[in-house]
Amino acid sequence: MITMNIGVLVSGRGSNLQSIIDNIENGYIQNARIVVVISDNKDAYALQRAKNHGIEAIFADPTKFQSRDEYDRYLMKLLSDRNVELVLLAGYMRVLGSEFVKTYKNRIMNIHPALLPSFRGLHAQRQALEYGVKVAGCTVHFVDEEVDHGPIILQRCVYVKEDDTEETLSARILEQEHEIFP
Ligand code: GRF
Repeated sequence: MITMNIGVLVSGRGSNLQSIIDNIENGYIQNARIVVVISDNKDAYALQRAKNHGIEAIFADPTKFQSRDEYDRYLMKLLSDRNVELVLLAGYMRVLGSEFVKTYKNRIMNIHPALLPSFRGLHAQRQALEYGVKVAGCTVHFVDEEVDHGPIILQRCVYVKEDDTEETLSARILEQEHEIFP
């Protein structure tokens, strides 16, 4: 059986990473394993989650590099040394440069907490509330050179309630993220 090597890039809490790990462990995702989790933030709880499951966790310090391209090249080296075939962005807060995107074309997936192409960028759930949409949601997509952009793989929607706050809406969307990313 062929097993695909996954590398996950993270920056924070790592609940989507956890969902991927859990769904590999429970057999929903088959023929794949996470071989490395890399964070640009040393305090990311996602690193601890990886370690809890015996997955290699690396803090890659962006301040040690002169430019984004140099940092990206370092990430690519970490990934290729581990024969990573699919890269998941699970709350990774940096924009990948074109060299990285070209190298892993159609092999990088991102999860975004909005129904793309609406509400790209930061605070997507807040943007949705402020706009006044009645349906919000999340998107899994392949990553191209634009931010939160590229071919859509899956989407889920949730209804926006009259009394939703950014927190309540985000929490309802997050439940769906945890289902569609795996
Ligand atoms: C999620 O809402 C994801 O859609 C966005 O960043 C957040 C990451 O959360 N890209 P977590 O670190 O997976 O808990």
